[in-house]
Amino acid sequence: MTSAPTPLAAIVLAAGKGTRMKSQKAKVLHEVGGRPLAWFPLLRALEIGANPVVAVVGHQAEAVEAALAAALPGAPLRFAVQREQLGTAHAVLAAREALGAFDGPIAILSGDTPLLQAETLHRVVAARAGGATLALATMKLANPRGYGRIVRDPAGNPARVVEEKDANDAERAIDEVNAGLYCADAAFLWDALSKVGSQNAQAEFYLTDLIAMAARAGGVVAVPVPPEEASGVNDREELARAGRVLLRRRASALMRGGVTIEDPERFDCDEGVEIGADTVIEPNVRLKGRTRVGAGCRLGVGAIITDATLADGVTVNPYTVIDASTVAARAIVGPFSRLRPGSEIGEEAHVGNFVETKKTRLGKGAKANHLTYLGDAVIGPRVNVGAGTITCNYDGEKKHPTVIGEGAFIGSDSILVAPIEIGAGSYVAAGSTLTDSVPPGSLALGRAKQVTKEGWVARRQAEKQNKGAAEAAPPPAPGEGPRGGRAS
Ligand code: UD1
Ligand code: MG
Repeated sequence: MTSAPTPLAAIVLAAGKGTRMKSQKAKVLHEVGGRPLAWFPLLRALEIGANPVVAVVGHQAEAVEAALAAALPGAPLRFAVQREQLGTAHAVLAAREALGAFDGPIAILSGDTPLLQAETLHRVVAARAGGATLALATMKLANPRGYGRIVRDPAGNPARVVEEKDANDAERAIDEVNAGLYCADAAFLWDALSKVGSQNAQAEFYLTDLIAMAARAGGVVAVPVPPEEASGVNDREELARAGRVLLRRRASALMRGGVTIEDPERFDCDEGVEIGADTVIEPNVRLKGRTRVGAGCRLGVGAIITDATLADGVTVNPYTVIDASTVAARAIVGPFSRLRPGSEIGEEAHVGNFVETKKTRLGKGAKANHLTYLGDAVIGPRVNVGAGTITCNYDGEKKHPTVIGEGAFIGSDSILVAPIEIGAGSYVAAGSTLTDSVPPGSLALGRAKQVTKEGWVARRQAEKQNKGAAEAAPPPAPGEGPRGGRAS
């Protein structure tokens, strides 16, 4: 990654409410790619070497600070609170104390621009280093509505920015707008900000007043940036669109790294998810949280994998849900499996159709292929868990463990009432309900003894025929016969 040539600080404005989101939650806490909106510009600033980076919070300050600090652990991040949102200039001033004596260049970013790329931010910072008092990111828009317009002087240099609400018709016709990304030296910034007033259409302290001041000082350098990167997220539609762009970028980066994504338009992956080369991802897979997928895996249609670690060569068949679990090399999971938190699936193990696991370790090569619940269990290598097996781990108050030793064979439809231990190599007969542990090498049967009545069918048919003949007979006269009437 590019790094700043000189010391650099950054301020990310994230105090606004985001009225157009129509939300109880502050705008910058809405997520794309599994991260709050403001995480992105903060990370971009960190990526180009800014230190410190100050997030200006205000609306729901505590929640915003907590979420951002948690999302960027260990980063040189500081927080400044802007109690009342009196405008963008006022917001930048709120960061002054947090920056202390820092006297180098300061980049200013908006908290709602998740598509900004580090390279673009770096270009704005580098442009100011060329000697201008202020670098200003600009973009040309077919529809510039809502943005501050760049007014240039006769020589073609940026002279000032006029906000939409303060602009006259001629100014509103300008299609070059302020992208809301700046870089200026601390000395200029603090001095100029102290002079900004609020005599304008919105009675706000406009950061954009600095453009005219910088133009009169050492000049302003305009840096054209891609509109896609600088446009902010203001409502739910823009949130969804930004999420889509991020996913396309993630998919491209992964494909460049050797991952096959069968349909990048039907691919969903949080920021930070890692996927190894030669892994194939079928459509509609969702990868969330701190998930890591090894090399040479196959993730089937509709798999939803959250905070999980998959080793190399794992197959996840369609419609499998994996949550906070690990799957070792060459294991096969699904279709329609559900691995709940704390599942550890061993090498080459199989977890099949409609199998649910929770806090369960499945040893190397063990199999649970059909219709099974395994909770709080430790299952040894090469154990075969038959269809319909249930570990009864909960007694209504507490959870209890089930331990199954290496190579044991659990017959289909077995109920293992925990706590219980099935010894290595033992057999549990199909249909057993076991409440007591079984020593190694045993056969355990826990079911009613089978009773077979030979010739029963023929006897029953004969009985039926006799009864039918009796009922076909004419009804007895009232008062006659055992029932006193005809059965229906
Ligand atoms: C601002 C610019 C406009 C530019 C546009 C680009 C001003 C006066 N105008 O307008 O020229 O074209 O961005 O997107 O700066 N914020 C605070 N505290 C406040 C006010 C705002 O933290 O008191 C934060 C917001 O949360 C947001 C950012 O500053 O992240 C921008 O504020 P916003 O109100 O969206 O400014 P715009 O009207 O879009
Ligand atoms: Mg805005």
